[in-house]
Amino acid sequence: MVLLIILMLFWQTYDNYAGHTGKEAAKLALEYVSRIEQNPCTGGTEETLILTFNHTAWDKYTQPAILTSNFLTSVIMKNTGSLDSLTDEMFFSLVRNNVNSIKTVFGSCIAIEPGIYSKYSSFAPYSYRQSGFVLAHDIALSYMYQDNKTEWYYNLKIRNWENVTQTVFKTKYRKGKISLLEHEIVVPTATLEDGLWTKPYFDCGGGDIWMVTYSSPIFSLDIAGRPKFQ
Ligand SMILES: *[C@@H]1O[C@H](CO)[C@@H](O)[C@H](O)[C@H]1NC(C)=O
Ligand SMILES: *[C@@H]1O[C@H](CO)[C@@H](O)[C@H](O)[C@H]1NC(C)=O
Ligand SMILES: *[C@@H]1O[C@H](CO)[C@@H](O)[C@H](O)[C@H]1NC(C)=O
Repeated sequence: MVLLIILMLFWQTYDNYAGHTGKEAAKLALEYVSRIEQNPCTGGTEETLILTFNHTAWDKYTQPAILTSNFLTSVIMKNTGSLDSLTDEMFFSLVRNNVNSIKTVFGSCIAIEPGIYSKYSSFAPYSYRQSGFVLAHDIALSYMYQDNKTEWYYNLKIRNWENVTQTVFKTKYRKGKISLLEHEIVVPTATLEDGLWTKPYFDCGGGDIWMVTYSSPIFSLDIAGRPKFQ
């Protein structure tokens, strides 16, 4: 699964707050934000904002998550159902690049299921901005993201993916100076609608900023050939 943390510009995103609309919702949302911001942070990300908001304005920022998860699915499909053809450095490079390339993206994380990268049973390279630098480390060392309480991971993991979009790729690989015969492969493909938005939350002690996350699934195939969350 690939996670993106997107910085929020409130006035563009809320739609409806606790049944209120328009300016009234804006006022309530901003009052809520201001109340949270005045209270001392205890760390963690417990403060969430209960409002339904219109994601459309943010859809364009989801691309790095979708591209990265579909890239990893392709690697799995071409490499006997595993990510072992990659190195730690490649995973870190992917998440750093997602953060570095788009200003509104505060953080990016690849979090995988046990077994798909045989080196580690849990692995979650995470990159984020801090004081003008792009930092990265493996949050799996201190954070059990595979726990069923982790909304951005678990809610996608338990979804039924049997009807996910399938893409047919036809590629002529190359050997030396010769083009090989066309090779066809069918790959499960995550789309915008397959991803998960979390509620906006205040990353207290972390970014100290309001954020929203979008996560996008990585797939392999199970023994019966059905798409399986990774
Ligand atoms: C959500 O916002 C987009 C523009 O950002 C707009 O076109 C669309 O109608 C809005 N949807 C709803 C349900 O308000
Ligand atoms: C989450 O995991 C705990 C501990 O393994 C278990 O007791 C609980 O029933 C699980 N909850 C759900 C919703 O699966
Ligand atoms: C997948 O598609 C089949 C056939 O249309 C349908 O019967 C099934 O309910 C779908 N499964 C899900 C999880 O949507």
